[in-house]
Amino acid sequence: MSNAVTYELIHQDTRTRARRGRITTPHGTIETPVFMPVGTQATVKAMKPEDVEATGAEIILGNTYHLYLRPGEDIVREAGGLHKFMNWNRPILTDSGGFQVFSLGKFRKITEEGVTFKSYIDGSKHMMRPETSIDIQNALGADIIMAFDECVEYEAEKPYVVRSLERTTRWLKRCKDHHQNTEQQSLFGIMQGGMFKDLRRISAEQIVDLDLPGYAIGGLSVGEPKDIMLDVLDDCVDYLPKEKPRYLMGVGTVDYLFEGVERGVDMFDCVLPTRLARHGVAMTSHGNVNIKNAVHQRDFSTLDPECDCYVCRNYSRAYLRHLFKSNEILSSMLLSEHNIHFLVNMMKNIRKSIEEDRFVEYKKEFYDKYGEF
Ligand code: GUN
Ligand code: ZN
Repeated sequence: MSNAVTYELIHQDTRTRARRGRITTPHGTIETPVFMPVGTQATVKAMKPEDVEATGAEIILGNTYHLYLRPGEDIVREAGGLHKFMNWNRPILTDSGGFQVFSLGKFRKITEEGVTFKSYIDGSKHMMRPETSIDIQNALGADIIMAFDECVEYEAEKPYVVRSLERTTRWLKRCKDHHQNTEQQSLFGIMQGGMFKDLRRISAEQIVDLDLPGYAIGGLSVGEPKDIMLDVLDDCVDYLPKEKPRYLMGVGTVDYLFEGVERGVDMFDCVLPTRLARHGVAMTSHGNVNIKNAVHQRDFSTLDPECDCYVCRNYSRAYLRHLFKSNEILSSMLLSEHNIHFLVNMMKNIRKSIEEDRFVEYKKEFYDKYGEF
């Protein structure tokens, strides 16, 4: 029996752990390291799938929690699966709902069996078990599906993190046993362990033992200072097998992408580019540009002189500012398209630099130009 998803290492950087690879899925290949735009509600907000594709994005994310509550996975299954439902024919990854459910705070309760929570839509009560998450993800039909895990908060104390990570491993076994459709969908395990390196190692050993087609690092970028996050990440990657893809969940600021790649991470996702766009912020090679600022009122230059996206080829900062100030929908559409293009293109340049053994130089060049993070 073959796995839906396979990983091929193309080139290992000689001076850092950065690596250039390729993931093959039933809906096409993904060049890594890769940034994955988030399409929580079966849409990358404010963008048509063809425009997402035009940015060069090769894989997008969907969310089990949201699509289960609305429209319901049965409707997506009847539509022919998530790819067909949303008209995106390239690879899709769905997150398990673990992270979203845990973000609900007092609106959820965790037991060995699973998590009970209240719907953010109508307050109705639901129970999500590892098996439920897999059933829903099977109905959605993404190429990569994620284990149902618990992401503990940054301040969590060690005894709790121990109990939580062991439960997450037991949940992963239940996910693996329940997931039958392995030739169409690959299940990735998720490492937890909070900010404790010894616990990260234990979690990694337990999940790697299950021989899954890929592994994610969860529970990072949850509010901890940058130096702690990078210190923990440093070790995490080494605990994961070289021949499988590594995915750092929920990370997508420019500096974390570079730092993650440098430490050997292959996949990243984040709502940041589309969220910033809806708040009138453009990501550019010279740092973030707040289009609301009065300085752009008569600025007829483009967002980023080095960007060749549809937006930068056709529109000025003055026009984009006008759209934003007028609450026009097109503002979110154009800024989202530029921001996704910016990150996707940055990853493309990173991949090229790894192939040519000049990742270190490219990072320095990029940082010098970008300015403060
Ligand atoms: N997204 C960001 N962090 C996490 C995590 O720890 N678990 C899951 N399932 N999704 C995430
Ligand atoms: Zn642009």
